[in-house]
Amino acid sequence: QLVLDTLDKHGAIKDTRVLVLPGQQDAAVTHDAQITILGALNSLASRDMITYTTHETVSHVLTEEGAQIALEGSHEARVWAALPTKGSGSPITPKHLEQMFGPETAKVGQSRAFKNKWIGKEGDGLVKLVTEIKDETQQQLREVDSTGTLHAGEKALAELRKRKLIVQKKGQWFTVEKGPAFSTSIEKPETDLTVDMIASGSWKAAKFKKYNFEADGILPNGGAHHPLLKVREEIRNIFLEMGFAEMPTSSFVESAFWCFDALFVPQQHPAREVQDTFYLSDPSTSLPPPADYYARVSKVHEHGDYGSTGYRAPWSDAESRKLLLRTHTTASSASMLYKLAAKCRGEDIDSSTDEPAAHAADAKKKGANGDGFRPAKLFSIDRVFRNETMDATHLAEFHQVEGVVADRGLTLADLIGFMRVFFKKMGIENLRFKPAYNPYTEPSLEIFAFHPQLKKWVEVGNSGMFRPEMLRPMGFPEDVHVHGWGISLERPTMIRYGINNIRTLVGHKVSLEGVEKSPAVRF
Ligand code: PHE
Repeated sequence: QLVLDTLDKHGAIKDTRVLVLPGQQDAAVTHDAQITILGALNSLASRDMITYTTHETVSHVLTEEGAQIALEGSHEARVWAALPTKGSGSPITPKHLEQMFGPETAKVGQSRAFKNKWIGKEGDGLVKLVTEIKDETQQQLREVDSTGTLHAGEKALAELRKRKLIVQKKGQWFTVEKGPAFSTSIEKPETDLTVDMIASGSWKAAKFKKYNFEADGILPNGGAHHPLLKVREEIRNIFLEMGFAEMPTSSFVESAFWCFDALFVPQQHPAREVQDTFYLSDPSTSLPPPADYYARVSKVHEHGDYGSTGYRAPWSDAESRKLLLRTHTTASSASMLYKLAAKCRGEDIDSSTDEPAAHAADAKKKGANGDGFRPAKLFSIDRVFRNETMDATHLAEFHQVEGVVADRGLTLADLIGFMRVFFKKMGIENLRFKPAYNPYTEPSLEIFAFHPQLKKWVEVGNSGMFRPEMLRPMGFPEDVHVHGWGISLERPTMIRYGINNIRTLVGHKVSLEGVEKSPAVRF
């Protein structure tokens, strides 16, 4: 407004340094004032209200030492003033001068005062040789302080610069003229053409804001992977790198047959109770599994087979047909293993079906037994459901990472060796195994890893060699052993991201911003 009013009054502004900004009075010539003015000029120029030209200036300002001299006098003048006139008092020693002024002023002052023939020696001390002096340095510095320059010219300025009493300071000022859209008040231009403006015709008179083609656009909202998905991707890469194929795991709903019976989990097992498992009410029962396989499974449970005594408890078809939300991905592993054993059962399976991919070289080497078996390495990472009380570390749904290896003559040592390699790839080198119990594996091992931050062993997973009671009814030959193991996806994710309450990772309390900003994970 000051620029516009001044232009209105005088037609042009020859030098913006004459403008006195409100609240800045005498400081209008300072650097900061011109920077403020430049901001206003740019904004007015963008509306074509003014045009302006920039002029560069070089001026000088005092250094701290220079300012002190301007105030108290030069070192030489102060030394001179402290001394008695020759013959009229006791001379002052250099040591005494040093005590009075400090080493710097005393030393520089004496040498310059000697050079100017202002002072001389008398005995051990110093005295004034002249009764009056002209402190030129002080006068020059006062001139620079008030005008930014010296009448005496560049040579004198250069001398003061060399003595580090003044420094150059670049500045700018401006000349301003009226532009084509000059006005004394700033109109807010329209930013959008509206329906109303078109209808009323007011658009014809309206002033529109110019497009700024240099402006950054608004960033579009992109999708972001949830931390669980980032860790899942890393774990998936480890499996793929180790030659595993991914199992289809889209069936969240399974029958009790595939989730429990096929795994030789007794029908009376507590894990099957409603407190632990979510059962479906509609539909509540599954289609029947393959009849002959079903017969072999129910037989091994109720009466035993393949050298096993079985559970010798009554078998219930209704129990087997119940539909539920799968409590572990081992339900999917079971149905994949059943498919893998198809050729061993003598079934002719079309190669275009989703029979798990076996590895060509292995298949050649090991499948040549005539029994149709082909080794396989399979994995899955997907969701499971348990009817649990939810707390900081438990949810009713979570993700399991599961790996299954089927080959002839596999031993527990193969399982342990495999897990050491796998966990090492996840950055976990310190593992311990503890005997455990699963209805479907024997032996079973709990996996513990040393947590370097918590400085203690934490349980990371569960594993074992699948029982013959599970494998033989599927049709696998006796020498085919299968080992498997499972870990949760949530635990390594929480450790990776330093999260200690699972509800900040999954569920309605998760911050979307946190998800967007969570960094990628690299093992
Ligand atoms: N199903 C087991 C669990 O839920 C994990 C596991 C898989 C154990 C395969 C042994 C073999 O903890």
